[in-house]
Amino acid sequence: MKLRRQLAAAAATAAVLMLVPSAVATASPDKHPKVPADSLRALGAQQKLGIGTAVDDARLGSDRAYTDLVANQFSVVTAENAMKWESVEPARGSYDWAAADRLVSFAGQHGQQVRGHTLLWHNQLPSWLTTGVDDGTVTKGQLREILRKHVTDEVTHFRGRIWQWDVANEVFANSWDPNPLPDGLNGDDFWIRNLGEGVVADVFRWAHQADPKALLFYNDYNISGQDGTNAKFRAVHDFVAKLRAQGVPIDGVGEQGHLDTQYGFDAQRFQADLQSYGDLGLKVAVTEADVRTFVNNSTEQVPTSQPAAFAQPFEFSEMLKGCQLVDQCISFTAWGVYDGDSWIPGTFAGTGYGLLYDVDKAPKPAYYALQQDLRLGARPQKH
Ligand code: XIL
Repeated sequence: MKLRRQLAAAAATAAVLMLVPSAVATASPDKHPKVPADSLRALGAQQKLGIGTAVDDARLGSDRAYTDLVANQFSVVTAENAMKWESVEPARGSYDWAAADRLVSFAGQHGQQVRGHTLLWHNQLPSWLTTGVDDGTVTKGQLREILRKHVTDEVTHFRGRIWQWDVANEVFANSWDPNPLPDGLNGDDFWIRNLGEGVVADVFRWAHQADPKALLFYNDYNISGQDGTNAKFRAVHDFVAKLRAQGVPIDGVGEQGHLDTQYGFDAQRFQADLQSYGDLGLKVAVTEADVRTFVNNSTEQVPTSQPAAFAQPFEFSEMLKGCQLVDQCISFTAWGVYDGDSWIPGTFAGTGYGLLYDVDKAPKPAYYALQQDLRLGARPQKH
């Protein structure tokens, strides 16, 4: 994608461009007729980059302002929770696809692509499953068969309608996890512990059988330059390289992109690591971007430090630019629409202000930073 390479050159002319902000926004190839020309999705489309958000099914359709933002600003949607195992099979053998189906049909109506999230993960498993494993009523042999059926049934249900699937999620050890396996997988992970590390390759094979056209991703956090020694990146890189060499059907790596301004962020390392995955012949996506910081309280979410308030849009922008500058990076997704509906305050005490729109759904500096990055990346070169 030649246009993307022009970003670096175009960045030098940012000041000039700011005088004519709508010059490149008028000829959007985004297929959906009602999309504003200066929206993130229209600007992303000019360089074949999907711009996504995680969607809360409780708000989609019922909250008009929220729904309009999802439709107008984003070309890719991910179900924040609705495709997770506990949501789709709350009681054993009885599926509930309603919320996920609503999102997939919304995406169809609005010319959007869907990231499926997620098939193999240790969190948000149905309690009938975890209880059964704990009390021994579900044996290991049965667990493997239950997982195979889950992957097959879910991927089959959405066959032909999912662009990228997060097939396996967060199975690698962090520096603080006590029992890493020699290749870096987390020995304490529910699935690795119960079924062995071969289960990761198996879920990719099962997913591929059920929908041969979907792009199959490995998805994780702190796997592109964020973890100090970069050991987690190295482990994931070598593992996915091995899967490919073995002919396992894996198509991409998703870097979640959950940042916090209190930690350092090395944008060059981020980009270089995305590129390393790309150099393996894999596609790359930033799948769950948000940048949290300390705030006054979880309702207003006003940053408590002025430098941190500047770092927030800066780090968001650096992540997008890293993706724009890697040819294999096909989508950039924010983990939610606005700060009033984000997992951050409830998960990381004292923090918030992580998304592109504020608690009142007004665009923040991070939104304008991304819009500007996309304009620059899409801008035809002079001379
Ligand atoms: C989070 C959701 O945002 C929350 O609403 C839910 O309560 C917990 O899960 N990594 C992932 C996502 O892969 O699925 C998680 O989403 C955030 C971390």
